[in-house]
Amino acid sequence: MDYNIMLIGFMGTGKSTVSKAISLMMKIEETDMDTYIVERAGMSINDIFSKYGEERFRDIEAECVKEICSESGKIVSCGGGAVLRDENVECMKKNGLIVLLTAEAGTVYDRVKNSTDRPVLNGNMNVEYIAQLMEKRKDRYHEVADIIIATDDKTPEDIASEILVEIQKYKK
Ligand code: S3P
Repeated sequence: MDYNIMLIGFMGTGKSTVSKAISLMMKIEETDMDTYIVERAGMSINDIFSKYGEERFRDIEAECVKEICSESGKIVSCGGGAVLRDENVECMKKNGLIVLLTAEAGTVYDRVKNSTDRPVLNGNMNVEYIAQLMEKRKDRYHEVADIIIATDDKTPEDIASEILVEIQKYKK
């Protein structure tokens, strides 16, 4: 495979779980961008946000996007805000196919409600806030995506299979 599959979308749309399923199905390497950032920075995402702020986190994220996209042949689970900067999207598009995972705000809430490592939602863990932030990012996610897959009421394996079918169609 001479390109990367870049999974994007809001927190809780299943990017990490689905990318692991695709990695197993296609026998390709998986990179989880948040894990990569944590290893690279030597501290948790919560700590980066609380010590240095969101802008610094976004700078580190942009450096990591560059590094990750310098290689091909992988499935990459991107952080939910990774496509907010143009430079990141440019980098991703050079050798990557961008697959957007979507979910209803209620589905996202159910999936992330017990999570304490998503600083963007800390203190705002409710459906209303999630719906608001999703709405703010929706156009951006849709305009950068090559393929869009809804994930509500589907298993990670179903979503992974659907992505692979859509990629075949896209590549034709
Ligand atoms: C963020 C999403 C998170 C993580 C960080 C910021 C966002 O990744 O990168 O907390 O702004 O949407 P996940 O989408 O993997 O939770």
